[in-house]
Amino acid sequence: MAKYIVLGAQWGDEGKGKIVDMLAGRMDLVVRFQGGANAGHTVIAGDKEYVLHLIPGGIVSGSAVNVVGNGCVVDPLIFANELEYLHEKEIDVNPEKLIVSSQAHIVTPVHKYLDAVLNKKIGTTGRGIGPAYADKIHRTGIRLESVLDGTFIPRFKEHLETYEQISSKVYDEPFIDAAKALEEMEKAAELISPYIKDSVEVIADYVKKGADILYEGAQGTFLDVDHGTYPFVTSSSTSIGGAFTGSGVFMEFDKRIAIVKAYTTRVGEGPFPTEQENEIGERLRAAGNEYGATTGRPRRCGWLDLKMLRRSFIINGFNFISLSKISCLSGFDTIKAAVDYDDSGSPVYKEFPGWKEDVEGSAELEQLPSACREYIDFIEQELNVPVGMISTGPRRSDIIMKEELF
Ligand code: IMP
Repeated sequence: MAKYIVLGAQWGDEGKGKIVDMLAGRMDLVVRFQGGANAGHTVIAGDKEYVLHLIPGGIVSGSAVNVVGNGCVVDPLIFANELEYLHEKEIDVNPEKLIVSSQAHIVTPVHKYLDAVLNKKIGTTGRGIGPAYADKIHRTGIRLESVLDGTFIPRFKEHLETYEQISSKVYDEPFIDAAKALEEMEKAAELISPYIKDSVEVIADYVKKGADILYEGAQGTFLDVDHGTYPFVTSSSTSIGGAFTGSGVFMEFDKRIAIVKAYTTRVGEGPFPTEQENEIGERLRAAGNEYGATTGRPRRCGWLDLKMLRRSFIINGFNFISLSKISCLSGFDTIKAAVDYDDSGSPVYKEFPGWKEDVEGSAELEQLPSACREYIDFIEQELNVPVGMISTGPRRSDIIMKEELF
């Protein structure tokens, strides 16, 4: 009867995909509750790599049923592409294994057009996320249930006409090819149709049965529309509150797992106090292969920020830390972590001696050099939550279990 939630504690890209994949093999149900195809969850299983944007990462391990919850925004075109991608990779996907909420909102080509026109200064992923959520809040959005009740096409036509008029009066960029969009969306809607269900009932049934359930967060706490570095955020609730509104089912999560990268990265614009726009940042980017899984953009890199993490732990009530990418810190003479900011808002750092040894692939704590262990102990003490797992590389087996999860 495990009820676990995995969330990014920083600005996303903390390495949630690997942990979700690892846990999903033991779960009956995996639930995504926010975001859409802006996510880029990388899973490496055996000698194969899978990058998923919309479909929950739990699909790769093969045993769990996967739910895209009502709080997500779903692009039927990307959904169709991802189905094809998974079939090509010989992953079994069918409506018994994958459920998309009838209450989830649809991302249309118009939303992607608006994202490009309106959100330049944010540096979004261009996947139409903000405009789709804006339509939801404006109460002009289109839910997936419209595909089942036959109202999708007339609603989509109205949506195209409305935005074509706005576009011609307000925006400089030419509008999309409406006829092409209609044709593509009609096809994709047909494809997604068998997967659409009342996901609240599905999740509630699993809870009633005493099933093992994993909630898979996307992005990270400081991209949360309320708690993040607004306006440089995504348009959903990426922190724990989003799990309840975005799935419609209350449950007490026994393990609230913070995925914490051993340093900090962010993609897109916005504040980043510990950013290293220098040789250190470049070294981190190279060591961690820090390029966006969705857009390929180089990620901005910097030291760990414990002040920020303390806030993240308040927001999410984390009780378990999975530390990732520790192996990317090998070779630095000195490692820094911000413990506070001074009056001017600049980080106040604590310095640690680095380590030279390559720790990639370590599976036992004893394999880590003492300087590395000291850094990990410090994180644990500062956040007052156990570091239960340490990921030492991209493969499933590159993991140190300090605390058993099951
Ligand atoms: P949007 O979610 O595409 O609207 O982008 C808003 C901000 O969130 C931008 O700074 C993106 O780079 C960032 N973002 C969105 N999804 C992810 C993600 O999965 N990982 C990291 N950053 C993300």
